[in-house]
Amino acid sequence: MKELDKSIEIGWDLLEQSVMTYDGKPIGTLAACGDSMEALNYDQCFMRDFAVSAIAFLLRGETEIVRNFLLATLRLQTHEKQLNCFKPGEGLMPASFKVVQHNGKDALEADFGERAIARVTPVDSAFWWLILLRAYTNVTQDWNFAHRSDVQTGIRLLLDLCLLARFDMFPTMLVPDGSFMIDRRMGVYGYPLDIQVLFFMALQSAQELLIPNDTNDVYIDAAKTRLSHLTFHLRQYYWLNFPQLNEIYRYQSEEFGDDSINQFNIYADSIPSWLEGWLREDGGYFVGNLGPARMDFRWLSQGNLLSTFSGLANDNQQQAILNQLEHRWEDLVGAMPIKACFPALEGRDWQLITGSDPKNKPWSYHNGGSWPFLVWAIAAAAIKGKRPELGHKAVEIAASRLQDDGWPEYYDGRTGRLMGRKARKRQTWTIAGLLAAYELLTHPEKLEMLSFPEPAILPCTIDGASTPLVL
Ligand code: GLC
Repeated sequence: MKELDKSIEIGWDLLEQSVMTYDGKPIGTLAACGDSMEALNYDQCFMRDFAVSAIAFLLRGETEIVRNFLLATLRLQTHEKQLNCFKPGEGLMPASFKVVQHNGKDALEADFGERAIARVTPVDSAFWWLILLRAYTNVTQDWNFAHRSDVQTGIRLLLDLCLLARFDMFPTMLVPDGSFMIDRRMGVYGYPLDIQVLFFMALQSAQELLIPNDTNDVYIDAAKTRLSHLTFHLRQYYWLNFPQLNEIYRYQSEEFGDDSINQFNIYADSIPSWLEGWLREDGGYFVGNLGPARMDFRWLSQGNLLSTFSGLANDNQQQAILNQLEHRWEDLVGAMPIKACFPALEGRDWQLITGSDPKNKPWSYHNGGSWPFLVWAIAAAAIKGKRPELGHKAVEIAASRLQDDGWPEYYDGRTGRLMGRKARKRQTWTIAGLLAAYELLTHPEKLEMLSFPEPAILPCTIDGASTPLVL
C-alpha cells in the first residue's frame, strides 16, 4: 500500500478513537488523545478544532456527529441578556466543552474562556458553528434542521452579538488579542484578518439559512449590507500587492476629512524591511491587521487560505495569493505545512508584543511555527484556484512525516523540520486536517460546502456617509 494511503487509513482509525460521546451518541472530538503530558484543556472538544474534524466527517458522508455537535453547542450558547460581567454575553458560544458526570448522568461543561490560559475570549467559535451549520445543510440538504426554531433563534442571537451597538464604525470586527486559533498574546488584537474572514463566511451562511419572514427580514438585510461593506473593505484596504506597497511607500500622512487617501494614517516607515524582497511581482495577500496608524504586514496563513476558497478574495486576488504561496513555499511551508504567521517576531518585538512568551519564541508555535492541520485549507485554496497540484504537494509533505512523528500539534524552525518543542502527539486536528485535505483533493466538487457566491458589493469609503449632525 502506498505511504499516503496507509497514513489516511490509520488517520481515520485515530480520528474515530478521538470521538467523545454524550448519552451514547457521538458529539465531538477531543483536542488530543493518548499523551502522557499534562492534559490542561486538551481533553476537551474545542469548537475550532472540531470544525476540521467535522469537515473531514462531512466529506466522508458521516453527518450524524456534526448534527449532534451543532445541537449540543447550540444548547451551550448563552440565551440571556447579561449584565453580569463574569457571565458570557448573550449569543456567545464556548471555546471548548467536555462531558462530565452529574447525578449519574452525562452533562456538558463549557468554557467560554473563563478558565482558559490567559482567559482569552473565543470570538471564532460562534462563526465556526454557523459555517458548519451551512456546510452540514449543503451536504445533507436537511433544510428542516436549519429551519428549526431553536436553530433560527441561535443564528439571530449571534447576529445580534455581531451587528448591534459597538465602539467603532468600521465594517470589520474589533476583538481582543488571542480571540481565534492564535489564542495567545501575539499582537493580533484589533482587526485581525482571520476573524474578519470567518465573519464574512458566517454572514454568508446566516443570510442563506435564515427563513425570510417578518422576524428574520431585518436580520437578512443587515447581514447582506454588512457583508457588502466588509467585502469591499477587505478587498480594498487589506489587500497588499506590489503596486499597493508602492502606494503606501509614497503615502502622505495626517490627512483630515472626507477626501483623505491614506485613511488609516499609515506611516511609510512602518513598512518592514523584509517585505520589499518578499512580495512577489505576481503575488499578493491580505495583511494581518489594519487599524489606526497600524498595518500589520505579517502573513497569516489561515486568514489568507480561507479568504481564497470562501470567495472573499476576488479571482485575481485568489491567484495572487496562490502565486505568493507557490513562490515563497520554502518560507511558508518548507518541511511541514504551514506557518500560522510569517515572519516570526524576534528580539525586542517578541518581548514587547508577546510579553516574552516562551511558548511563542521566534520560529515556534504561533510565532513562525508550522501547523499541519492547515493542510486542508491549502488543499481547499488550491482547488478553488484550479491549481490542485499545490494541494497535492502539501499533502505529500505532511503525510511523509505525520504518522511517523505521531501526529504532533505543530513543528518549529525556519524550515519547519523540528517537531514542536512542546507539541502534543495525536493532536486531533492534525489528523483531521490531513484527512480533510485528502478527501477534498479526491472529490474537489465537494468544496462547494465551504465556498460562497460573490456577494453584491455597494462601493463606499469608510462606511457611513458623512451627513452633518446638526443639533
Ligand atoms: C492551542 C491552539 C488553539 C487550539 C487549542 C486546542 O491553544 O492555539 O488554536 O484550539 O490548542 O488544540
